[in-house]
Amino acid sequence: MTKNKSYIYQNPTEFDGAIRRTIPCYEEMLEAIADSVFLPPHRCRGLDIGAGTGAVTKALLKRYDHLCMHCLDFSTEMLGILSDSLAEFVGRYEITTHDIRVRTLSGSYDLVVSNLSIHHIKGLDEKRAFFENIWSCLTSGGQFVMGDWFLGANPDLDGMYETRWKEFEILNGKDPDDVENHHREMKKVDFPSPLVSQIQILQQIGFQDVDCVFKKYNFGVVVCRR
Ligand SMILES: C[S@@+](CC[C@H](N)C(=O)[O-])C[C@H]1O[C@@H](n2cnc3c(N)ncnc32)[C@H](O)[C@@H]1O
Repeated sequence: MTKNKSYIYQNPTEFDGAIRRTIPCYEEMLEAIADSVFLPPHRCRGLDIGAGTGAVTKALLKRYDHLCMHCLDFSTEMLGILSDSLAEFVGRYEITTHDIRVRTLSGSYDLVVSNLSIHHIKGLDEKRAFFENIWSCLTSGGQFVMGDWFLGANPDLDGMYETRWKEFEILNGKDPDDVENHHREMKKVDFPSPLVSQIQILQQIGFQDVDCVFKKYNFGVVVCRR
């Protein structure tokens, strides 16, 4: 199984800077995720899928004292940086190396969250199976919050999204040729699917209160509840 070759993963120590120069609304997505989490008052468990260097988990642990997080990622290097970054929260998080393409999720969580990771799962059928797996890991009333890169409803919109995305990267100092290469490479290893199709699938599975709480061009945050 080949790992993701996208350059933002190649040097995990550079990730936190690179992701902010690459994803136009990264900070807004983190904020929308943290704002949209509503937890029961008792001690809660959350799962962060594709946790990376821990930005989502950190935002949630800061905000919710009664939350503990389980962080999954297939990159031990990313999880190493996550552990350094979450040093102040020792005892409130655990990490597991886990490849979402080959292992199913298990456990019982009040919250499942994932930012910018589910587009690594190919196609809508595999995403449906993954969402069903997430459903099986949620407590009744538990929340699933998904930030991701989505496709639009037609190629015109997707073309515009990509143009705006590249403009953002170039404005942030990237070389235009590098930006072109990066987008070409991403198409080989990343599999975004239409937002509307994924919302429909979540509803078909039985998720309640499905809503898109943030969207800017091809990036968005979807929330729902079991
Ligand atoms: C764009 S980063 C996002 C990291 C973090 N969620 C954030 O918002 O900063 C995507 C993360 O997904 C992880 N990832 C990619 N493919 C994966 C897979 N098949 N299984 C588990 N993690 C994966 C990468 O290692 C990376 O840490």
